Amino acid sequence: MSSKVFKLIAEEAHRQKYGLEMIPSENYVSKDVLRALGSILTNKYSEGFPGRRYYGGNEVIDKIENYAVDLAKELFGVPAAFVQSYSGSPANQAITMAVCEPGEIVMGLALSSGGHLTHGAKLNFSSIFFKAVNYTVGEDWKINFGELEALAKKHKPKMIWVGTTAYPFKLDYKKFRKIADEVNATLVADISHITGLIIGGVHESPVPYVDIIMTTTHKTLRGPRGAMILVTDRGLKRDPEIKGKIERAIIPGIQGGPHNHQTAAIAVSLEEALKPSFKKYAAQVAKNAAVLARELGTVSETHLILLTLTEYGYGMGYQAQYALEEAGITVNKNTIPGEPASPFYPSGIRLGTPALTTRGMKEKDMVKVASWIKMVLEEIRSLDLPEEQEKRKDFLKEVRVKLHQNKNLKKIRKEVEKFAGKFPMPGVDDI
Ligand SMILES: Cc1ncc(COP(=O)(O)O)c(C=O)c1O
Repeated sequence: MSSKVFKLIAEEAHRQKYGLEMIPSENYVSKDVLRALGSILTNKYSEGFPGRRYYGGNEVIDKIENYAVDLAKELFGVPAAFVQSYSGSPANQAITMAVCEPGEIVMGLALSSGGHLTHGAKLNFSSIFFKAVNYTVGEDWKINFGELEALAKKHKPKMIWVGTTAYPFKLDYKKFRKIADEVNATLVADISHITGLIIGGVHESPVPYVDIIMTTTHKTLRGPRGAMILVTDRGLKRDPEIKGKIERAIIPGIQGGPHNHQTAAIAVSLEEALKPSFKKYAAQVAKNAAVLARELGTVSETHLILLTLTEYGYGMGYQAQYALEEAGITVNKNTIPGEPASPFYPSGIRLGTPALTTRGMKEKDMVKVASWIKMVLEEIRSLDLPEEQEKRKDFLKEVRVKLHQNKNLKKIRKEVEKFAGKFPMPGVDDI
């Protein structure tokens, strides 16, 4: 081991094993996924698509990509799949470019309501090069279909996104379809967060309702970082040219050579997702999230929990994230619908169960995890965010130091490390 990097990888492996990884978009991949990802396939250039490459020597790469595409089609029951997008954001860019001309109208859930940047957020390509219209959630935190329908009728979008990144409820694709049909919009589902739940039958599949689907491969699907674009029968009927448009958007539109090692690792993860054991995993992810949510005094119909911290004080997201990190529990600060503090200093945290479930944790473990989380949150009471904006940065610096010295958090961290270390870690412990 010559590189300094390997020492740092070992350090990170230790952190991942002895902590509770609760960022809902993260997971642990298998040893086989890691093997494919770390393989010699990274050496090869393959611009183009199987049978139509710009470079020679791609006969094996063609077989790998065709295999990944076939597995994706089988898993989701769709007639077309594309596996070359480097990640979710460029995949969403490719879909938008394939469906819309620059400047046309795209509708998506607002970032502040749990949507994703690429669905029309300010400063993102989706609102710089296209005209973005955002719909939101109501007071019950659920998608406001009345507003969505009114906005769609007013703006006549070319494309509507149905997809979320911080939304703890199931999605009603039928309702989205009805509205998309009323204005003749292409309906695109971004199922990145919930792919695993859909494969496992915990959530309804959008395939019968939408035209195109995008999913990242590294969240509940448990694959490498990457993404897939799927076209449904309905989507092909709507636009028989859509396959070529998506291909041209991927290359030459956005990307160059595909990451063949990543394609191979996606294929391995799709093989794993086709096994009956994956269904059990997905069901357990949702059961764990429901118990965790209940213990924390809220609800979840998915893999994630959006927790309001207003009962602990004003603008407590950062403080909670820091305190939990000190205790070995990794979550992210998040805005809550109707954010009372600030998008930069939000009032909530987002946490989930996909990674803990991969490590073998069950409902009783979630009760324990929730009790640690509640104990940690007690330590941030009275650390309210200053109302004066100019004081906030320095205040949070002091809070970090204070939390780092907190004896109760140190004690909880020891317990967490002992607990987490008992669960094997895929890719490292060879479970
Ligand atoms: C719903 C959704 N779409 C797209 C993405 C973007 O994926 P990536 O981070 O791989 O670009 C994410 C990632 O968080 C997401 O949650």
